Amino acid sequence: MYLQYLSQKVFFPILIVTLISICIQYFSVSAQEDELYLACNTTFNCSNMEGVGYPFWGPTRRDYCGHPKFELNCSGEAPVITINSTGYRVLGIDSSEHFLTVARTDYWNDSCPQEHKNATLDSTFFDYTSETQDLTLYYRCSSAVIVGVSSQFSCPNDGTTVTNLFATDNTKKLLYTFIQTCQESVVVRISDSEAGVIEEAVNALSQPNLTAALVSGFQMEWEANNSRCDECVKSDGVCGYNHTTGEFTCYCKDRPYGFMCGSDSPPSKFRFSSPPIRF
Ligand SMILES: *[C@@H]1O[C@H](CO)[C@@H](O)[C@H](O)[C@H]1NC(C)=O
Ligand SMILES: *[C@@H]1O[C@H](CO)[C@@H](O)[C@H](O)[C@H]1NC(C)=O
Ligand SMILES: *[C@@H]1O[C@H](CO)[C@@H](O)[C@H](O)[C@H]1NC(C)=O
Ligand SMILES: *[C@@H]1O[C@H](CO)[C@@H](O)[C@H](O)[C@H]1NC(C)=O
Ligand SMILES: *[C@@H]1O[C@H](CO)[C@@H](O)[C@H](O)[C@H]1NC(C)=O
Ligand SMILES: *[C@@H]1O[C@H](CO)[C@@H](O)[C@H](O)[C@H]1NC(C)=O
Ligand SMILES: *[C@@H]1O[C@H](CO)[C@@H](O)[C@H](O)[C@H]1NC(C)=O
Ligand SMILES: *[C@@H]1O[C@H](CO)[C@@H](O)[C@H](O)[C@H]1NC(C)=O
Ligand SMILES: *[C@@H]1O[C@H](CO)[C@@H](O)[C@H](O)[C@H]1NC(C)=O
Repeated sequence: MYLQYLSQKVFFPILIVTLISICIQYFSVSAQEDELYLACNTTFNCSNMEGVGYPFWGPTRRDYCGHPKFELNCSGEAPVITINSTGYRVLGIDSSEHFLTVARTDYWNDSCPQEHKNATLDSTFFDYTSETQDLTLYYRCSSAVIVGVSSQFSCPNDGTTVTNLFATDNTKKLLYTFIQTCQESVVVRISDSEAGVIEEAVNALSQPNLTAALVSGFQMEWEANNSRCDECVKSDGVCGYNHTTGEFTCYCKDRPYGFMCGSDSPPSKFRFSSPPIRF
């Protein structure tokens, strides 16, 4: 009887102490979130743009929170992304569609930059969307033969014998004989809607607005392991990049994972011939 009383008297405090310590341990572990997760579970402000997230990073967001090809320069009035050595002013970011609206910095509000160069996208990561098309700017054309043509623009230092032309693929045919006289050309990208405005103006023999087309930019689609990132976000993780392995990483509350929170192996939609290693 006394023994039973003693065991109860001793057992209950021990049980309670054990339960409390388990609780403390549980809550302190769950409160201590992975530091990479905390560092990347943020967005940043870049120039005139707020709330920018993966795959972008920059002066106030660490490189491991983004993808290496998506660094933004925030020192100007708008964010600038550099793709294969050409700078693009970022006008809009649509994270859910992975669309970027941009305009080349050298042709931003300037039809006559000093250097005329064609830009190419790094096609592994970027692609023009289908709602865009080429606009060709022709420089140093003979002004003698070009009278009454509406798609002209002038550049500083042109002189009186020289003019410049611009044409969409559709209006090139109309301007063919004049284009022959031009000494240089460059291809830039514009939106289909701006191209439509240019074409309508040409057909109505009014002055199409080249500046408006350049300033409004065009859309590109990006690929930064998009589907992997979507899976990661669905599992409550945040997307990032491991510079040691050179691979996409999913930062989770407990630790980083290769694919999504709780899994270092690909989910079924990524599985191909060989079965993944199970843990
Ligand atoms: C950060 O994490 C919280 C939940 O833990 C989530 O609600 C929030 O949207 C996250 N923020 C970003 C920018 O990922
Ligand atoms: C971004 O700008 C908004 C509005 O100015 C501000 O509320 C927010 O705190 C800024 N975020 C950061 C991370 O600076
Ligand atoms: C950002 O752009 C400015 C202006 O073009 C340039 O001076 C600066 O070096 C760039 N910064 C980085 C980190 O590339
Ligand atoms: C474009 O340049 C002109 C003159 O250089 C300037 O007056 C105008 O404000 C600029 N427009 C934009 C949208 O930057
Ligand atoms: C740009 O590309 C066009 C068409 O491919 C070509 O005719 C033109 O010479 C190129 N311009 C420059 C400056 O390289
Ligand atoms: C980058 O541009 C250069 C010419 O400026 C071109 O030769 C090269 O193929 C481009 N690289 C990519 C990845 O598009
Ligand atoms: C062309 O568009 C620009 C920018 O939208 C505007 O400031 C300018 O007045 C327009 N010029 C003409 C001739 O319509
Ligand atoms: C992630 O992206 C890199 C380059 O963009 C590519 O080589 C790799 O195959 C991608 N991985 C997955 C699982 O999509
Ligand atoms: C990158 O991966 C290596 C090897 O798996 C790992 O040791 C390291 O902690 C990871 N770094 C980040 C920032 O996730």
